Amino acid sequence: MPEQRDRWHSRTAFIMAAVGSAVGLGNVWRFPYVAYQSGGGAFLIPYFIALFTAGIPMLILEMGLGQRMQRGAPGAFGSIRKGLEWFGWWAAGLSAVIVIYYSTILAWAWVYLWHSFELAWSADPEGFFAREVLQRSSGPAEIGAPIWYLVLGMALTWTAIWLILRKGVRSVSKVVMITVPLPLVLLAVMLVRGLTLPGAMDGIAYYLTPDFSKLADPQIWLRAYGQIFFSLSLASGVMIGYGSYLGKKAEVTNSALITALANCGTSFFAGFAVFSMLGYLAKVQGLPVPEVTNGGPGLAFVTYPLAILKLPALSTLFGLIFFITLLTLGVDSAFALQEAFTTGIHDKWKVKPEKLAWVFAVVAFPLALIFTTKGGFYWFDIVDKWVNDFGLVTAGLLQALIIGYLYDIKGFRDYLNSISEVKLGNWWIWMLRYVTPLALSITLILNLQNEFTETYEGYPRWATTLGGWGTLFALAVLGYFLSRGRGKESD
Ligand code: PHE
Repeated sequence: MPEQRDRWHSRTAFIMAAVGSAVGLGNVWRFPYVAYQSGGGAFLIPYFIALFTAGIPMLILEMGLGQRMQRGAPGAFGSIRKGLEWFGWWAAGLSAVIVIYYSTILAWAWVYLWHSFELAWSADPEGFFAREVLQRSSGPAEIGAPIWYLVLGMALTWTAIWLILRKGVRSVSKVVMITVPLPLVLLAVMLVRGLTLPGAMDGIAYYLTPDFSKLADPQIWLRAYGQIFFSLSLASGVMIGYGSYLGKKAEVTNSALITALANCGTSFFAGFAVFSMLGYLAKVQGLPVPEVTNGGPGLAFVTYPLAILKLPALSTLFGLIFFITLLTLGVDSAFALQEAFTTGIHDKWKVKPEKLAWVFAVVAFPLALIFTTKGGFYWFDIVDKWVNDFGLVTAGLLQALIIGYLYDIKGFRDYLNSISEVKLGNWWIWMLRYVTPLALSITLILNLQNEFTETYEGYPRWATTLGGWGTLFALAVLGYFLSRGRGKESD
């Protein structure tokens, strides 16, 4: 007897979960520093162009595909053409990899949360992050053993994911009612604190004053598309998986618009919280704003903690607030990522969520341990770069081409219009057929060109080949075997 598919509690629950997945570390940990490195305010132009030409059309596509097919990414693409199931697995596999390294950042956040009590980084925030927390080795070749407190932080994260996913999307419906609004409230608290500090306005001015000359640099455009993809959790099967738990008559288009705007609004807003603090930090150190940080994950784990330290009062409280924000922001992205992959397994082999939740953890946790080693930071950096700049961009490109050319996209649009509050015009089809593929192809070509002229961050070629290309290739092999496997009941 066919089992009833799990459902979101309500439309609000679905939107909250989608926003929870989209709004994550990317909004606080990635967006401000990408914007910062890319000329502050000028970055907002390519960012919004990327949002409208690729982000929103793709988000509607993904939620709509999941809803229409009532399947996660592998099953949804497999229903378009049998041979495409493989692609669905590959995209969902990217999610599985992301959750593995994403949980590393959450592990760092746990460690910092703990150290917030005595503000342990006070003597030397940079050295604290590199030497005390990461115990960073000299390079990717020197790996070493897992570091116990990072393993512990990671275990906490994975336990949280397991507890939440064990009951399927019904428990997700409840959890996101807390994990989505809470970090927003905390961000608002930080923003108010930031804005009332001296120098805040200089930071904000740097954030918002556009430097148009930067727009001539293709790198900036590349980052904008990459950031939009990562931030909206696209091309990774996440939104397809979440959409598949919508009822057959559920609204799609407007929910996608709400999700996209809520996400980008949060990034923009988080930028204020971060930059007001950077302005303050610049002021107390007597430096110009661009000199207080050189970006990178260090922004969240070095620069921001340093600014917290320099606060006139309540540093510990703000430390706790900041790291709780990171944790609550991240956890709902993490379980969405895992769900993207496990939904595929559930659809095909009818494994129950309770079992999937722990089986995934048992298989993936040992893999995650690599990132808790002394050399782990380098591997984290490489995998993050490849999965995003090559993996997600390729998956997005193929997805647009598949839906644009191998699927009846007009019929799909009419279907979406029949169930949705906002009606899609031809623009949606043009974006997916022409503009998105063009933008993503250029992005991909430029990425490849960069990579072949100089290796990323000067890492040795063997390391990027193994960690970067190796990961993407391993996922292709995994996808092949999973798609060849015989499902439990094929309909
Ligand atoms: N969107 C999340 C963030 O901004 C990360 C993420 C990427 C989540 C891909 C799911 C899928 O942090």
